[in-house]
Amino acid sequence: MKNLEVKYLGLTLNNPIIVSSSPFTSNIDSLLRCEEAGAGAVVLKSIFEEQVIGETEFMSRYDDYPEAGDYLKHHLSDSYLTTHLTLISEAKKRLSIPVIASINCSTDKEWISYAKRNEEAGADALELNIVIIPTSADAKSSDIERQYLDIVSKITAQINIPVSVKLFSKFTNILNIVKELHNRNIKGVVMFNKIIESDININTRELVASPSMSNSSELCNSLRTISLCSAEVDNIDIAVSTGVHTGEDAIKALLAGAKCVQICSTISANGFDVINNMKQFISDWMVSNTHTSIDQFCGTLSCKGSENNEIIQRVQYLKYFQQ
Ligand SMILES: Cc1cc2nc3c(=O)[nH]c(=O)nc-3n(C[C@H](O)[C@H](O)[C@H](O)COP(=O)(O)O)c2cc1C
Repeated sequence: MKNLEVKYLGLTLNNPIIVSSSPFTSNIDSLLRCEEAGAGAVVLKSIFEEQVIGETEFMSRYDDYPEAGDYLKHHLSDSYLTTHLTLISEAKKRLSIPVIASINCSTDKEWISYAKRNEEAGADALELNIVIIPTSADAKSSDIERQYLDIVSKITAQINIPVSVKLFSKFTNILNIVKELHNRNIKGVVMFNKIIESDININTRELVASPSMSNSSELCNSLRTISLCSAEVDNIDIAVSTGVHTGEDAIKALLAGAKCVQICSTISANGFDVINNMKQFISDWMVSNTHTSIDQFCGTLSCKGSENNEIIQRVQYLKYFQQ
């Protein structure tokens, strides 16, 4: 197999396939399986801000929502913090690949100091999964973006390990938010978090969650943005998440400018063997294209935004809809 080494967040990965934050990275046995199967790194299952804040504080926030409270009460207790920190230190002891901790958050409140404890437990990097879902017409996009920036400023001020942010794709100008994150010492972005959209059951007339697993076609939603972002924001490392299922998908992401890919659904559908199959596919493709390293082709399809580019995009759109 070809040398598939890449750098991500300043860490050296022996290949660009990362197992994303998911049930596959929630316990030590499964993490060991990720490494045995050939993953380049792992992102641990996220701990939620609500779990860090603790039951009493959290429950008072949700007093008026008994259904949400009942569900979440079950998942909140002090033992989660110990279990989470132990998983980080245990993973660092037993795995030789980089271990990235993950926190799911939406505010810059009391939980922030917990990030330092992830660093002390030995995490090589921290991925922040910032989830702010606007539901009010009065919430201004600029205020929501400020919330993202306030969170990361507080985190990067207090820890020394590299920090990345896993983003949703729905920003008015995602390129600007990535640039602002980078200005606040964020080393990488994960594009993108999978949105669990709503479906509707027409018999019960209820909103129900859409499927949580992705398929390959979802990757097309991100490639143009990745390609623009990798050219527009210097020195930010992009990891692609959502819709990477095959070696071909991984190569598309790398060509667009990603440094690595994160996978979850494809492991669920195809088992851990998919990691080696993807690596073999990338290696074979590199042989047929006479590449000796991933660096040689990574980002060759990134494209800088410009007025010219905007016109081309607009014309393509016109061509498509004038048929
Ligand atoms: C059951 C399940 C649990 C997940 N838990 C987390 C999590 O704790 N933190 C996180 O950042 N992403 C979580 N994810 C999202 C995945 O990391 C990933 O971003 C998403 O599944 C899209 O990637 P894929 O197309 O490879 O599945 C979860 C996904 C699934 C299906």
